[in-house]
Amino acid sequence: MAWQSHRNSLLGHCARRSREPHRRTEEQYMPMKSNLADRHTFVQHKWLDRDFNQDSANPRDSDIIGNSASLQESLTQAETVASTDCTVLIVGETGTGKEFFARMIHNLSARKHRALIKVNCAAIPAGLLESELFGCERGAFTGAVTQRIGRFELADKGTLFLDEVGDLPLELQPKLLRVLQEQEFERLGSTRSIQTDVRIIAATHRDLSKMVSAGAFREDLFYRLNVFPIAIPPVRERAGDIPQLAQHFTRHYAHRFHKTIEGICPQVMEALTRYSWPGNIRELQNFIERAVILSNGSMLTPSCAEMMRLQHPIATEPVTLIDVERAHIARILGQVNGEMTRAAALLGIPRTTLFYKVRRLGIDVLSARRRKTDSAC
Ligand SMILES: Nc1ncnc2c1ncn2[C@@H]1O[C@H](COP(=O)(O)OP(=O)(O)OP(=O)(O)O)[C@@H](O)[C@H]1O
Ligand SMILES: [Mg+2]
Repeated sequence: MAWQSHRNSLLGHCARRSREPHRRTEEQYMPMKSNLADRHTFVQHKWLDRDFNQDSANPRDSDIIGNSASLQESLTQAETVASTDCTVLIVGETGTGKEFFARMIHNLSARKHRALIKVNCAAIPAGLLESELFGCERGAFTGAVTQRIGRFELADKGTLFLDEVGDLPLELQPKLLRVLQEQEFERLGSTRSIQTDVRIIAATHRDLSKMVSAGAFREDLFYRLNVFPIAIPPVRERAGDIPQLAQHFTRHYAHRFHKTIEGICPQVMEALTRYSWPGNIRELQNFIERAVILSNGSMLTPSCAEMMRLQHPIATEPVTLIDVERAHIARILGQVNGEMTRAAALLGIPRTTLFYKVRRLGIDVLSARRRKTDSAC
């Protein structure tokens, strides 16, 4: 009972703070600004202002929605680990709320008044990621015209959120491991070691243990990150949360678009609840946003096409070229039971190239082989 009320007060505190976006933004950002070495460096990182402000306008800053047992379990884990300095690895499919959880953990931690710095390892080109993380001295490489403060330095005494950590290039992984082990690093082009006191929260939608088996992720780094794993369940496994989420987003967007929407009719709610939401909460949120824009009366009115899509979902196809390449190689490997030489011959590429691609794309060769063993049994 005492724990429950402590938990409610923590969550209430978190939610109250989140409803004060400007105060929170300033509180978190001011120490960071004052840490910045000079005006040039400040200008370099000025986009961070924009990121924090954009985040504050996002519904992610309102209360966490969902009463399902699986979500509640993940929440309890997040609240429990928040007060420690322990490294957290948040895993979950795309759109399940990994970043949302990372913010919550930071906001409930003793570091909440310091910066929460985010690095999306998948969004920054591999060649730039090292200087983004560790910073660089002027002239460290072609194009390094000024000194640059890295995210590890910016996050000192605060939290560093390594988003999509499964996409961290293999060649950078030993460097990250070193900072995690020794709490020190050097800027590119410098031999001076810098001590850092950073709490790491990492997130990924990939299965890192499979990537370790496929040689695409270092085992030692995996164990360093996987100290306190939190799995966020996909929406299809907590369909009971869908009505509450749908109402929450309807209220949010109705307010934003100055509409008066009083409810969601039972047929629409049933279709929402039956659908599997492969894009999870983000997909649901976008669906509701479009429906609110289209609604003219007092009830939420999605378009007929959208309702059809919910009832007859189209199988999700890979979209990006990399996804297509990954799916094709995985399919061929499946056909030849994971035999690399045969797969390379079928694909018309050298075996070494196939090894490289399997690693880079995080393809699980072992499971193709396992399927062979299983079918033999
Ligand atoms: N429990 C929740 N209650 C309300 N909103 C939520 C909840 N979880 C996530 N959201 C919202 O869902 C959206 C997606 O969340 P978030 O960006 O944290 O997901 P993600 O797992 O990091 O996605 P991706 O893998 O695509 O980066 C956000 O707009 C967030 O506000
Ligand atoms: Mg994310």
